[in-house]
Amino acid sequence: MMLPDHIRVSAWPENDLSEFLVKRKYAQLAVLTDENTKTHCYPRVKDSLPQHRVITIPAGEQAKTIETCMHVWHAMTDQALDRHSVLIIIGGGVAGDLGGFCASTFKRGIDFILIPTTLLAMADASVGGKVGVDFGYYKNQIGVFREPVLTILSTVFLNTLPERELRSGFAEVIKHALISDKPLWDVIRGKPWQTQEWSRLVQHSATLKWQVVEQDPHEKGLRKILNAGHTIGHAVETYYLAKGQPLLHGEAVAAGLICESKIAAQKGLITVQEVQEISTYLLAAFGKLNLPERPEEIAQLCYQDKKNKDNKVLMALLNGIGRARWDVEVSMAEMVDSLTYYGSLHT
Ligand SMILES: NC(=O)c1ccc[n+]([C@@H]2O[C@H](COP(=O)([O-])OP(=O)(O)OC[C@H]3O[C@@H](n4cnc5c(N)ncnc54)[C@H](O)[C@@H]3O)[C@@H](O)[C@H]2O)c1
Ligand SMILES: [Zn+2]
Repeated sequence: MMLPDHIRVSAWPENDLSEFLVKRKYAQLAVLTDENTKTHCYPRVKDSLPQHRVITIPAGEQAKTIETCMHVWHAMTDQALDRHSVLIIIGGGVAGDLGGFCASTFKRGIDFILIPTTLLAMADASVGGKVGVDFGYYKNQIGVFREPVLTILSTVFLNTLPERELRSGFAEVIKHALISDKPLWDVIRGKPWQTQEWSRLVQHSATLKWQVVEQDPHEKGLRKILNAGHTIGHAVETYYLAKGQPLLHGEAVAAGLICESKIAAQKGLITVQEVQEISTYLLAAFGKLNLPERPEEIAQLCYQDKKNKDNKVLMALLNGIGRARWDVEVSMAEMVDSLTYYGSLHT
């Protein structure tokens, strides 16, 4: 498995960046960060950049709006960036999605470079060309597909990432291993989550995502395997949000992976022992969530999922460890059983 030329895994992001900029000879450049990555990540590359201005957005999902885009477009306009400029985005999935969208629409599109600084952005958000912002209550409602000219994946940035954010991204990494690579899953489950070999895992996740997206850019089939753990995961995320106790995305996905692996076992796609392995590891890493007494409350939320058809819940399920299938119909009873199983687990 290989990454394309424009996505590079790098121990020295500042060197890769300056080398690329020397070759491309952009007339002007701007850097986009959020408040945290300006402090923790930008200093690493600052001195290797030619003259530039830094545009900073607030940190967090609440800032992923058109209003924030307006601030960025204003700053780009004030700087008189022309069409041959580049925007260098240093941050997590929020800065990457929003910055990529601002660049893609400014003067009908200027180049942008992604330097993801969270595990989630390295393993998932920065690969696949989806950029955009939230709108009203809807996530990623406004957006386009556009590839960055360069993506630098460097785990040096993970050193300052809060532990809870790191662990949240780990759920996507685990998902990628479970759906595509049994030997890698065996390596992962052999170590506690804090001591994982992040650069190897980022390389694997990004490569898998790239390959899947390249084969199925518009999510007609194969790309749906990336939704493993996400039907129940999204329902759990919605439930906690409504309770006023928002979870990080990966924390909900971890619970979703446990429940959906139980469903896969009910359908004879994986063994009971494999479900136990997955549950034991994920519970040790993520702890156990307090799901509602009545599992139907979560199961019901799965009927809202975007991937459904004809009011039937369709999931991407493991088909043996290291493989997955998609559009598998799952009944209310199967979802309820799997949530009851989750409720019966001990940490
Ligand atoms: N485009 C896609 O295909 C795709 C895929 C998955 C997720 N996403 C999007 O990604 C977003 C979530 O991304 P995220 O989890 O990276 O969140 P995020 O960008 O909000 O970053 C999480 C927090 O960590 C801070 N941070 C980032 N890097 C840091 C570092 N190295 N050191 C210290 N603090 C740091 C940020 O300031 C923020 O407070 C969501 O909006 C989601 O929709 C997009
Ligand atoms: Zn996800």
